[in-house]
Amino acid sequence: MAKSWAPDSWRSFPIKQQPAWPDEADLDRALKQIRGYPPLVFAGEARSLQTGLAQVAAGNAFLLQAGDCAESFEDFSANSIREKLRVILQMAIVLTYSLGVPVVKVGRIAGQFAKPRSSDYERIGEEDLPSFRGHIVNDIAPTHAARVPTADRLVQAYNQSASTLNLLRAFTKGGFAALDRVHAWTQEFVASSPVGQQYEKVADEIDRALRFMRATGMDTESNHTLREVDVWTSHEALILGYEEALTRQDSTTGGWYDCSAHMLWVGERTRELDGAHVEFLRGVGNPVGCKVGPSMTVEHVIAMCEALNPARIPGRLTLITRMGVEHIDRALPPLLAAVRDSGHPIVWACDPMHGNTYTSPGGRKTRSFDAILGEVEGFVRAHRAEGTWPGGIHVELTGDDVTECVGGGDEISDTDLDNRYETMCDPRLNGRQSLDLAFRTAELIRLGRD
Ligand code: PEP
Ligand code: CO
Repeated sequence: MAKSWAPDSWRSFPIKQQPAWPDEADLDRALKQIRGYPPLVFAGEARSLQTGLAQVAAGNAFLLQAGDCAESFEDFSANSIREKLRVILQMAIVLTYSLGVPVVKVGRIAGQFAKPRSSDYERIGEEDLPSFRGHIVNDIAPTHAARVPTADRLVQAYNQSASTLNLLRAFTKGGFAALDRVHAWTQEFVASSPVGQQYEKVADEIDRALRFMRATGMDTESNHTLREVDVWTSHEALILGYEEALTRQDSTTGGWYDCSAHMLWVGERTRELDGAHVEFLRGVGNPVGCKVGPSMTVEHVIAMCEALNPARIPGRLTLITRMGVEHIDRALPPLLAAVRDSGHPIVWACDPMHGNTYTSPGGRKTRSFDAILGEVEGFVRAHRAEGTWPGGIHVELTGDDVTECVGGGDEISDTDLDNRYETMCDPRLNGRQSLDLAFRTAELIRLGRD
């Protein structure tokens, strides 16, 4: 018999990665406030995303999940949201054009604030300070005071998510994402690069196709599919009090949905089968994801599929593999084979970022474009060998011209990292590197299919 579930049933399970909130009363007050606020997304939207993901699971669509490692309360402006959206739209166009299948676009945005940490403390200079856990919890400044978890931040995260989502909806439904604007999504620093020029060629082709459609009498101006896109939201469901406060019962189906985002995932550090995070996610109706690292066994993956998707609903579960380029050839194929043989409908996405982080000689946390691409290559190779669909990529990026990941078309080197290293957490691909990755990923997948 199915175990009972409630939005707060996670509270009786062992839990990891939660902040040591200094004042329970403050925390309760903040959560109560959020419980009274409107949901950020609507259950019907989560179901639409799930329908799109079901197409990915069936091999008829591709998933692009992308955005910040950690959103910031400070770097928060229309500009930064728009620039991120531009890169996502550009990548999606490249993938759609080249693969010939719909691309389901999911941002790590409008709620991606909480970070799991490998250690509770970090050594800065001579001091051990509580780790930075994302702006929804504490501040990054290297002082004890800044690192104290502050419950008001939960409310601020809600508010920032609401206004980010508002702008995202305006951009994606209000004309900014219309297909006849493909050229306008290119930023100057991208346009001047070889990959920018490659993109311009695709954009020219799309323009030509649109002109052709108009010439045949089609009204491209009023056609919604050409003028609007869906960009869904997602984040790691880490701070469960916050997620619980936004979990609401859907009036049309009676099911529970975590209305903080369309899609939620459980991270590599909190994916215990008998832990609170899996308990929470198994009960919400949203599409959910689970990170899968190199230590995950076949048994664990199958048990995860049973726990998170016992009814085997296509599109419900995305397994996001993050093996690292050194491990992928060994670690991924057995999992693909076992899940395939179990009959579980799965979206397989490749996160080529989190298994490939290292510290540069200059002390910066970085990733190399070659390792990232190498992991995508290994991912596609493994799927080809097992006869499964390499359903998507999950990447950390920004629209800005940052220097956080080394390599790529413009050959960012270790010494360049200091030029514009702005991330609060993990290193992100810049606009050019992101577009480059989209082209190369599309090419790898196409080669596998032709
Ligand atoms: C992340 O996606 O930012 C993250 C922390 O990933 P993982 O759980 O795979 O380490
Ligand atoms: Co990250």
